Amino acid sequence: MGAELVAKAADRVVAACSAFGQTLKNGGIAHINISTIRADSLLSDRRIVVTGGGSGIGLAIAKKCVDSGASVVITGRNEDKLAAAVESLGTKCASYLVWDITDSSIVDDKIKYCDHLLNGIDVVVNNAGVEPREFFPDVTAEEWDRVYETNSRGTFLVSEGFCRYWMEHSSGSYRYLINISSQGGFVGATYPYRMSKWDIRGLTEGLGLAMAPYGVLVNGVAPGVVKTAMQDFALNQGNNIYCNQNPLKRVALPVEIAELVSFMVSGACNFMVGQTIVVDGGFSLRG
Ligand SMILES: NC(=O)c1ccc[n+]([C@@H]2O[C@H](COP(=O)([O-])OP(=O)(O)OC[C@H]3O[C@@H](n4cnc5c(N)ncnc54)[C@H](OP(=O)(O)O)[C@@H]3O)[C@@H](O)[C@H]2O)c1
Repeated sequence: MGAELVAKAADRVVAACSAFGQTLKNGGIAHINISTIRADSLLSDRRIVVTGGGSGIGLAIAKKCVDSGASVVITGRNEDKLAAAVESLGTKCASYLVWDITDSSIVDDKIKYCDHLLNGIDVVVNNAGVEPREFFPDVTAEEWDRVYETNSRGTFLVSEGFCRYWMEHSSGSYRYLINISSQGGFVGATYPYRMSKWDIRGLTEGLGLAMAPYGVLVNGVAPGVVKTAMQDFALNQGNNIYCNQNPLKRVALPVEIAELVSFMVSGACNFMVGQTIVVDGGFSLRG
């Protein structure tokens, strides 16, 4: 009996030494918690900022997040729109902050205020963006500046600010930055809107790499045509969602983008870094 116990203990010591040797060989120790999806509490306790959350895709993301247990701050330029959006969310877990992302001088103050409202920040969805108004070969310098100051420069400065915040506020849990690009970031670009969406895709890769060591997972979503104010024609069609731009022959609804974003920040998708997921009904597969 005594000899048997000694033999078992020896086996355990050998196994432990072998595991330690393997750890040294691999170069480090890592621990991870993987979550599985439970719809009603998918995002419980997550503190989330959605830029441009007063309408369209951003509002759908905010709704999905609060319905899944998160606290959310939505931002934008138009206070009336933001207040109405918060009311439509119908919960004390949603609030708003007026924030024009083209103003570089206020970024740090606005982030501090988000931190104050939410008591910490776990997730940022960079969704604010403006639509294209001019197309090649008739694009003016003014159109370039108008689109770029929000979609590219503004998104960059907001991202940089939140990344700096996260670098200064370390956490034992992952944090998430989701950038909304576009199907236009995956096909040839001849006008500023599409070019700005290529920028977002590149930024997502770059920040993905730079921020992973800080536990910040940066990824993106590239929607195709979505039925929002940005797509007048789709709104004008009422309940008809037909669209001839993609092989599914339809537009997407904002909730379809929100579902993906909520999954990406849920903890069930923690090994993805710097990727932009295309949700475009097949548009960008065209030759
Ligand atoms: N709809 C589509 O087909 C489609 C397709 C691909 C990608 N996207 C992208 O999805 C995102 C959301 O667009 P959407 O379709 O939901 O259109 P939307 O309803 O017009 O939403 C855009 C939001 O951005 C905010 N915004 C614009 N400029 C801003 C600024 N300078 N500072 C702060 N907020 C600003 C707007 O709020 P305020 O007016 O209050 O400022 C608005 O709530 C955009 O990045 C867009 O490029 C849309």
